[in-house]
Amino acid sequence: MMNTNLLLFALLSAASAFHLPSEGDEFHFKSWMAQHNRVYSMKEYYERLQIFTENKKRIDKHNEGNHTFTMGLNQFSDMTFSEFRKSFLWSEPQNCSATKGNYFSSNGPHPDSIDWRKKGNYVTDVKNQGSCGSCWTFSTTGCLESVTAISTGKLVPLSEQQLVDCAQDFNNHGCNGGLPSQAFEYIMYNKGLMTEENYPYTAFEATCAYKPELAAAFVKEVMNITAYDEMGMVDAVATRNPVSLAFEVTSDFMLYSQGVYTSTECHKTTDKVNHAVLAVGYGQDSGTPYWIVKNSWGSGWGIGGYFLIERGKNMCGLAACSSFPVV
Ligand SMILES: *[C@@H]1O[C@H](CO)[C@@H](O)[C@H](O)[C@H]1NC(C)=O
Ligand SMILES: *[C@@H]1O[C@H](CO)[C@@H](O)[C@H](O)[C@H]1NC(C)=O
Ligand SMILES: *[C@@H]1O[C@H](CO)[C@@H](O)[C@H](O)[C@H]1NC(C)=O
Repeated sequence: MMNTNLLLFALLSAASAFHLPSEGDEFHFKSWMAQHNRVYSMKEYYERLQIFTENKKRIDKHNEGNHTFTMGLNQFSDMTFSEFRKSFLWSEPQNCSATKGNYFSSNGPHPDSIDWRKKGNYVTDVKNQGSCGSCWTFSTTGCLESVTAISTGKLVPLSEQQLVDCAQDFNNHGCNGGLPSQAFEYIMYNKGLMTEENYPYTAFEATCAYKPELAAAFVKEVMNITAYDEMGMVDAVATRNPVSLAFEVTSDFMLYSQGVYTSTECHKTTDKVNHAVLAVGYGQDSGTPYWIVKNSWGSGWGIGGYFLIERGKNMCGLAACSSFPVV
């Protein structure tokens, strides 16, 4: 004979294991869908509602705790981290190991804070890589745009698509990953990079359509900062220009909203880094030093498209693989 209490218990625990979405969850989900222009088939609606509800629970739980950063809903809130990783991060480790870099830092003294966005017209608007693992091209253009603007006084958005389509000979792999240092090498040997306007971004890999007569930015030398020399990065950002870096994105970062990001989920080694971005400055917030970093997930993500990440601890391997060009 079946014990009804036991049956009830089994049903309830099954429900809680699957976190059956409530009316409130559906309400949140529908307003999120409207905000992000999402339309689903009936079947997909329930799958996405489930994932969204899990993500929202994680956000609420995190935000109740004592952390230096908050999580929030964003355009990725209906995705699992493994789906997210497939669309936006490198699928395999890149050759990112400047065991001995060629950048020698001056050892300071350095200012307590610096923000290249405020020093002049040196940083272009936040861009959006779409569903293509091309972060490395945005880190590259972002850095070269700034270095060129600091040198010439003219800030011009440059072409990611040229790097996606044309930089394969330097161990870059279009939508499947690449490295800013290798992209700078490509630009140096190719003798130029076109503008965003003349070679616009599509988020798909296509045949190289580079036109040398339209080259708009150039690289004379590639500076690699020795792996794990985070002081070298501080020196470069303080005394020269924004710096391209790579780090490991884990599931907690997908839901970042604001504040100084720190993680115990990520690693610190070159073989784990899976996303390239651009450090445009640094500072500190009630004793916690941080980097100011430009991302390429649109201006709706994070703090207007930027994030802060703890500085001085090689957080998530951010000092493993940094570089910048000399123009
Ligand atoms: C929150 O964390 C900070 C930094 O770790 C600590 O100084 C503070 O005491 C914590 N506050 C609470 C309420 O736990
Ligand atoms: C790493 O470098 C080796 C040797 O140059 C190359 O064969 C390999 O494809 C590179 N790996 C990646 C992910 O670019
Ligand atoms: C900098 O890094 C790139 C790519 O990782 C490499 O090809 C290049 O040789 C390095 N440059 C120096 C001067 O070590």
